[in-house]
Amino acid sequence: MEKMEQLREEQREILRRLAPALLPWYDVNRRELPWRGTRDPYRVWVSEIMLQQTRVAAVIPYYERWMERLPDTAALAAAAEEELLKLWEGLGYYSRARNLQRAAQVIQGELGGVFPGTYEALLRLPGVGEYTAGAVASIAFGQPVPAVDGNVLRVAARAAAMEGDILDPRVRRAVREAMEPAMPADRPGAFNQALMDLGATVCLPNGAPDCAACPLAGFCEARRQGRQLELPRRKKKAERRREELTVYLLLRQGQVALRKRPERGLLAGLWEFPHVPGALPEGEAARVLEQWGLRPVDWRARIQAKHIFTHVEWQMTGYLAEVRGEGAGLTWTDLAGLEGYAVPSAFARYLAAVREALGGEEQLTLENGAF
Ligand code: ADE
Repeated sequence: MEKMEQLREEQREILRRLAPALLPWYDVNRRELPWRGTRDPYRVWVSEIMLQQTRVAAVIPYYERWMERLPDTAALAAAAEEELLKLWEGLGYYSRARNLQRAAQVIQGELGGVFPGTYEALLRLPGVGEYTAGAVASIAFGQPVPAVDGNVLRVAARAAAMEGDILDPRVRRAVREAMEPAMPADRPGAFNQALMDLGATVCLPNGAPDCAACPLAGFCEARRQGRQLELPRRKKKAERRREELTVYLLLRQGQVALRKRPERGLLAGLWEFPHVPGALPEGEAARVLEQWGLRPVDWRARIQAKHIFTHVEWQMTGYLAEVRGEGAGLTWTDLAGLEGYAVPSAFARYLAAVREALGGEEQLTLENGAF
């Protein structure tokens, strides 16, 4: 049985009280962030895309580097793919970077270089969904549209004591719809960002809201009912799939082997250390190398590593080995050249090991020693 998703009138009334309480709070407590203080839609858009799956503190250096190299849609539209991926390296969810570029190309090509200035037009850009369109339309163009992300859902669900599962798209839609009449016409961008800041600094998830510091405490329904630790409700996500991989850190006369990932799917087009499914013991791992036309001459270390994606977890067994032979489909690079390849952070541990093996400065304690 599905619960009613529509908000009741008293819940809508609570949402209408958000702006008058939040805007004065925001004026005093807002976070100073490098994408604030501008209404340049390009800057706002790039920041919102970067922030979609990534924490503010992690985004800041990426954002600043990106803006130095690619200060406008024209520069982004014309950038080489490798540069783009390099600028994004470590942020994850690389389709975001590709969509940014595709959208910039649409703007430069089809829209005569003019950034779309309405919620509806923004929605038509690749990679722009309701949240991003709402954020850019309100912050850069002053349109009174909501931008409902996880923070906003949490604040709304607590303030109005909503019972629905906030991971349910119908709940998100209901909140978005109920937020529309709660938007302040004069400062919609400030209001949306105030909700984000409140969610990020005061109305915190995982049972840690700081109600004493909250400007909504006087009318927050979850607090009145003493249920702020219980709300919002979230259904448990499906368990992550676990995948075992054997990763080869192949050294050959001062160079290491890389392989380009396919153009579609997870981490598309990035560079990786060659790997095969399964946690292979050394003997089997050696047989795979032979099939690739390589001969291991020195097994230097076995290094375990783990990386967690949204839906899958990689358990990796890495072999650092000196080899001889060509190895079909592999690209060889030395330490200096390695910096030019975008290697996803899933391989960060192995990158450090390889840099050290190739004579870089980085220190790494090899788990199992040489064997
Ligand atoms: N998270 C997503 N967008 C944000 C913004 N504009 N400011 C702060 N945090 C955010």
